[in-house]
Formats: sequence, structure tokens, C-alpha cells
Amino acid sequence: MNLLQEIENIYKQAQIKFQSLIRESEIDPTKNEFIGKKGSLTHILKQLGSLSVEEKKIIGKKANEVQQAIEGLVIETRKRLQEKEIQAQIESEIFDALRPTPSKLQGGLHPITKIQMEIEDIFVSMGFHVMDGPEIETDYHNFEALNFSEDHPAREMQDTFYTDDKNLLRTHTSPIQVRALKLLTPPFKMIAPGRVFRYEEIDASHENTFNQVEGMVVGEDISIANMLYVMQQLLIKIFDKEVNVRLRPGYFPFVEPGFELDIQCFVCGGKGCSVCKHSGWVELLPCGLIHPNVLKHGGLNPNQWTGFAFGLGLDRLVMMRYGIHDIRYFNSSNLRFLEQFSQI
Ligand code: DAH
Repeated sequence: MNLLQEIENIYKQAQIKFQSLIRESEIDPTKNEFIGKKGSLTHILKQLGSLSVEEKKIIGKKANEVQQAIEGLVIETRKRLQEKEIQAQIESEIFDALRPTPSKLQGGLHPITKIQMEIEDIFVSMGFHVMDGPEIETDYHNFEALNFSEDHPAREMQDTFYTDDKNLLRTHTSPIQVRALKLLTPPFKMIAPGRVFRYEEIDASHENTFNQVEGMVVGEDISIANMLYVMQQLLIKIFDKEVNVRLRPGYFPFVEPGFELDIQCFVCGGKGCSVCKHSGWVELLPCGLIHPNVLKHGGLNPNQWTGFAFGLGLDRLVMMRYGIHDIRYFNSSNLRFLEQFSQI
């Protein structure tokens, strides 16, 4: 092949190569391939010395033209790739709420929300109302009407965050009991799911922001047997299998008698782990018969009306259900954690 043809070929190759580039960082190495120190065109220029004057003139001219054309390709390609990059950036920054996203990026419900919805369905099927209450509560609803007097030692177990006007972030969903007593006409059954807050030292099983489902049944002649039956139904429906439980006395000022209903730890199968504080049991469902003072605060006559109440720890229930070993995942916004539940 003569040199002129070779130079032509180099140009054709350069055109194809520059057209195929997709990254700006590829431009310089490509330029060097053709017109760098060891480039193919440079190699030809080096051979000019051995040619006749006439040949030198023709081939040198052609080589110069091609060198300039390749420099032109470099400029053109740089412009093309920069524009492409800007376009890609513009496109990535446009927010189009209606644009379909790849399924992996589609949002899903938080596992707590999912189980909360399931629990609501279970209770609605048993004739319960679903109620709500404010997250910023009055001292009266959160403590006083629930039989925690101002200097009651049990308040200490529920330290929380106070606002300047002496309201507080509710420490539990139990204040909704008082609101329900005033709002509903007995006999009634209600649950009230919600977020609660405590000034806590945070670890694998304690958070400062967590979730509970309060429950309350008010009627005439309500007994512990009624309470246990409802608790049992709930656990069977939630876990879809036999759950080992134990009932112990527990103290809460707003119930008498009060109980702690524990379930055997699902994370370790009862052997002991950080979730169950190495006891094999997890406190899940504190409950009891409504204290007469609470009924009185709600405007009911405790000689006529009775009832039971419970406060389900929703975070722990979700941890048991899915074998999650650290409560801190729930508020972590960790997508690798959350994505696992978006398809369930
Ligand atoms: N509110 C209590 C707490 O957060 C839990 C509780 C205990 C709720 C007994 C109840 C109950 O309704 O009957 O510690």
C-alpha cells in the first residue's frame, strides 16, 4: 500500500474511532494513537526523510491536512461529549413525578406501617374502632387522667421531651384511652396506633421514637378472661402460628390488676440475644383491667362500667415477625433495610 493511501486510511480510522467515543477522558489517548509521539500518522511523517523531494511535497501536504483534520475531530468530539454530559445532567435533575421509575426505585410501605395496617384490619374485623390522638399531649391526658399524680414515681420511667408551654411529646398511646372514654358511648371497643417518644438511652432494643397500638374495651362485667381471649386472637392472627406466652404481674397506674404479657423471643428462639436482653422473653403486650380512677376521669361510673386495656409494642412485634435484631434500623432510612420489605 502506498503512503498516500495509508494516510487516507488513518483518517478514516480516526473518524470511526472518534465517533465511537462516549467519555471525554477517552479523547486524549485516542488523539495520541494517531498524532501523538508514537501515533500512526507521526510514524509516517518520520519516514518522509527517505523520500524524493517530489514525493515529500505531495505526501507531506496530505499528512499535514490529515493531521489538521484529526485535530478538528478532537475539538468536535470534545464539544459533542460535553454537550451530552450537560444534557444528561439536565435530564437527571428534572423532577417528573409521573415518569415511570425502574421497579427497584419505587417506594414501598415501611414494615411498621404494614403491620400496623394488618393489626387495624384484625381489630376492625372484631368490631373495634380505630382512633387517633395528638403526638404533642397535655400532661393531663398523658399522665394525670391515667392516675399518675404529679409526683408519682412511675412518671420517672417515662421521661420525655417537653414544650415551653408545658405540653409534652406523648410517652405512650394510653392518653387516647382518656380521649376515647370522653368521645365514645359505652359499651365500645377501640384501638389507637401511634408514634410515641421517650428520653431513652438508645440501644438494640430502645429508641427515643417508637410505635404502639393502644387497645381498650369498655362494657359491663368485662373480665381478665375476655382480655386474654382478645390477646390470644391477636397473636395467632399476627404470627399465624402458636406463640409461647407468659403472663406476669406488671404495674401501671392506670390498670388494676396489671400484667405483662411476654412472648418467647422469635429472634433467638428463646435462647437469649440482645433483643430479649438475654432472657429468652420479650415484653410485648402490657395489659390490665381499667383502673376506676381512669373511668371516672372519662366521665363513667366505675360501679357500672368495667373494661380492659393493652398497649402493644409495635416495633418489637415487627422485629419478632421478621427476625430483625436491632430497633435502630426502623428510623435509619437505610434503603438496603427498607427495600427488603417493599415487595412483601
Ligand atoms: N402505656 C404503657 C407503656 O407505654 C403500656 C400499657 C400498659 C398500656 C398497660 C396499657 C396497659 O393499655 O393496660 O408503658
